[in-house]
Amino acid sequence: MASGWARGPARLTGRAGIRLILAIETSCDETAAAVVDGPEVRSSVVASQARLHTPYGGVVPEVAARQHLGTVNAVVDEALDAAGLALDAVDAVAVTQRPGLIGALLVGVATAKALAYGAGKPLVMVDHLHGHICASWLEPLALDPPFVSLIASGGHTRLDLVDDYAEPRLLGSTLDDAAGEAIDKGARTLGLGYPGGPALERLAADGDRKAFEFPVGLAGRTDADFSFAGVKTALLYAVRDLGEQEVGRRRADLAASYQEAVVRPLAQRLVGAAVDAGVPAVALGGGVAANGRLRALTAEFAEPAGVAVAAPDRALCTDNAAMIGAAAQFTPPLSWPRYAGADAMATSPPGGIAA
Ligand SMILES: Nc1ncnc2c1ncn2[C@@H]1O[C@H](COP(=O)(O)OP(=O)(O)OP(=O)(O)O)[C@@H](O)[C@H]1O
Ligand SMILES: [Mg+2]
Repeated sequence: MASGWARGPARLTGRAGIRLILAIETSCDETAAAVVDGPEVRSSVVASQARLHTPYGGVVPEVAARQHLGTVNAVVDEALDAAGLALDAVDAVAVTQRPGLIGALLVGVATAKALAYGAGKPLVMVDHLHGHICASWLEPLALDPPFVSLIASGGHTRLDLVDDYAEPRLLGSTLDDAAGEAIDKGARTLGLGYPGGPALERLAADGDRKAFEFPVGLAGRTDADFSFAGVKTALLYAVRDLGEQEVGRRRADLAASYQEAVVRPLAQRLVGAAVDAGVPAVALGGGVAANGRLRALTAEFAEPAGVAVAAPDRALCTDNAAMIGAAAQFTPPLSWPRYAGADAMATSPPGGIAA
């Protein structure tokens, strides 16, 4: 989607001075490993647990952690094999340290520590949200700052000003639910399974997005914050008031109108923040950025404002380890024994998402 970014040799290596990296991601329900060489993705393997959690309508933390434990070694081996490398060849091991499900994170962190120690490599502890932002640094997108980044995922919704990939600066975030959470809950209300995003998007494709008028959170405000609790409740009431038969008949219209109410403020505030900050581009990130309507709407708002839109490949928007390898190149590596005491954390520190 993006084209014409300035791409000098200086930007081909991140600031941390390491570039051939084995990265591991286990923060939620995807067991992922990747090998990156600077901005080049040499391999990226994602073993999704989504089906395992479908019967429960959401991710069960204990089930996720146990599944990671059984899968992570095979996924790491597959990523190294696909890159044609042995562990000895990499410069460093990187892993998602935070935020996420603590049991799930612990599996990745313990695995990465063992691999780094065994191979005598430094370890890079990465913030998952920093990873979502740095997905835009990877080729072929290779987006140069400055830009405004949107992360819209299952657990977070935020805008950051990125002058430097090493130091994203928070502009605003959701005051209640994440956009992905609203999408998943809405999908559940409409009888779609978990995860709801792709299913809701498929259903919405046959619907009229103007059929229902759902409220847009913080509609009167022009800042960079979001709210999705109201639209979620509005869908619940609409479904209750319409009754089973009418809901059955109008499910596609409900899906399209609901999806519109969630993605419109994302696109609008993202482009608005870029205009306010005077930066030439915006980047989409996080699982909700896989949504076609969000991509189209962002382009629609951006074009007349003269703002370029960078949207990474869908596989780099949802959870993956290549983005963790990218963020690792903007995070100081730790050598033994400093990483021995670095632990998994359920949340990012208040100071920010970069190290
Ligand atoms: N095509 C799509 N349309 C809308 N939403 C989508 C689509 N594909 C995935 N999603 C949503 O993306 C979310 C998952 O994104 P991601 O994997 O980045 O989240 P997470 O890792 O669980 O949360 P976080 O990144 O905040 O820790 C889910 O809510 C899912 O429904
Ligand atoms: Mg994520």
